[in-house]
Order: sequence, then structure tokens, then C-alpha cells
Amino acid sequence: MERPTWAGTEIDLQRPSAARVYDVHLGGSHNFQADRDVARRITDAMPELPAILRANRNFLRRAVRHLVADGVTQFLDLGSGIPTAGTVHEVAWRADPACRVVYVDTDAVAVAHSRALVAGADRAAAVHADLRRPDDVLNAPETVRLLDFTRPVAVLMVAVLPFVPDEDDPAGLIRRYLGPAAPGSRLVVSHATQEGSEEHYAEATDHFRRCVGEFAVRTRAEVAGLFGDLTLVDPGVVYLTEWRPDPGEEDADPRRTSTFAAVGRKG
Ligand SMILES: C[S@@+](CC[C@H](N)C(=O)[O-])C[C@H]1O[C@@H](n2cnc3c(N)ncnc32)[C@H](O)[C@@H]1O
Repeated sequence: MERPTWAGTEIDLQRPSAARVYDVHLGGSHNFQADRDVARRITDAMPELPAILRANRNFLRRAVRHLVADGVTQFLDLGSGIPTAGTVHEVAWRADPACRVVYVDTDAVAVAHSRALVAGADRAAAVHADLRRPDDVLNAPETVRLLDFTRPVAVLMVAVLPFVPDEDDPAGLIRRYLGPAAPGSRLVVSHATQEGSEEHYAEATDHFRRCVGEFAVRTRAEVAGLFGDLTLVDPGVVYLTEWRPDPGEEDADPRRTSTFAAVGRKG
């Protein structure tokens, strides 16, 4: 297969990646045959998945709009993925052009595209780092330059914590990011679950694990537990489409998203 210019030689084209499989599901074009094969097998088992992932992106946009309206103008987007329409900086800048955004991802394709998208902008940047190494993220020159932790920061962990198994202590990592952040900082989480979900969802999850890697699903109580001392913002931990839906977005069966969403506030 010919290597596109945006895929550096460090990228193994034969090995599917979570970021690129997600890109396939969202109808993006930054993926390879290996990613498309996995994505197809997963949607064969779970045809609802692309709609769920769109609902996830819609939650992310609503949460960012809500935060900017509430005066939070700094965003640390951990596991930001390959940018698609309506990225965090676009949504945030529409509401307040002074917002600052740092994207973080382990996937080289995701980081390359995020960098290309924000090239020349002085209020957004992308960092190639593993969120399980908070020092790498917090001390990265882009984070230090753009984010002021003496003022509220929104830490976004949207559809990324399933890639952080319990052994890696997701709650401890969250404390590490929110610890140095000023009161009024927020944590935004969306998280896959199998609590009460259809049986065939488990089949799709197993296939993802076999082909791509770790994928932890957590219960509502476990997702709530990740927020530790933070105060959950109304309506608490709910299914994606139940989190402050825009008019016309109400969902007759939110449970089908099999994904919880929540925002927590420090202090
Ligand atoms: C399902 S995508 C979610 C993208 C975006 N947050 C969204 O909700 O649209 C998960 C992203 O997390 C990234 N990721 C997985 N583990 C990570 C880690 N340990 N550190 C940073 N990024 C990670 C993947 O590369 C992928 O781009």
C-alpha cells in the first residue's frame, strides 16, 4: 500500500489504531485498510456504533459550549483523536475567540492532523504524549505556554478512559491532572458501558480488544467514582443523549448509546 504524505514512516499501516478505527466510524479519510477491516467487523456486530460515536461528538460540543458559557476558556483535551468537524477549538472559539486549547494523543496520525489544523494559531497546539504520563503532558512546552493552571481549566477525557485499564489507576490520573488546577476547573468524561446494554455490544467490544487492544467498560457507579471529590454538574452521570440535549436532540432510548457522560467541578 502506498504511504500517504500525512503518515510518517513510524506508522505501521498494517496495524489498526483506536484513533483511525474511530475515524472510519465517523466517516473520516485518515485511516488505512487494516483500520477499515476492523471497523467493518465491529459495525457488522454493532450497526448502532457510528450513531453512538456521533452522539459522543455532540455531547463533547455541548459540554464545551456549556463550559465557555460558564467562563471556562482553557481546555486540555486528552485523547483528542483525529480532528473531525466541530473540534474543541472551533466550538470554543466560536463562543469566545480567547479560548486556549491543547490537544493530546498517543496516535501519530491524530497528532499530525491536529497540528496541521491549528498551524499558525497561537491559542491552540497539539502534544504527542500518553495521558498515563501526566508529567509529560503537564510539562510539555505547549501546555506550559498555553494553559494557566492558576485559572480554571477544563480537562476533557472523552471516549478515552476505556483505553486506561484499572491497573493504570484512572482515578489517580484524574487527580493528578485536576490536583494542580484552580478551583472552578472541570472534568468532562464520556465512557462506554455494558451496564444494561444489548448483548451484541459485548461481541463488538471483544472484537475490538482482539484486534486493537485494551477496552475497559465501566458501570455508572464506576464512572461516578472516577470523579472523586469533584462535584457532579447537573444532570450527573447520564447516558450521552441525556446530558443537556439541545432542543430537538431528545432521544427516546438513551440507553442504546451504551455510553455515560458527565461533567464534574472542582471546588
Ligand atoms: C475513541 S477516540 C476519542 C477521540 C475524541 N476524544 C472524541 O471523543 O471524539 C480515543 C482517542 O484516545 C487516544 N488514546 C488512547 N489511549 C491514549 C493514551 N494513553 N494517551 C493519549 N491518548 C490516548 C486514541 O489514540 C484515540 O485518538
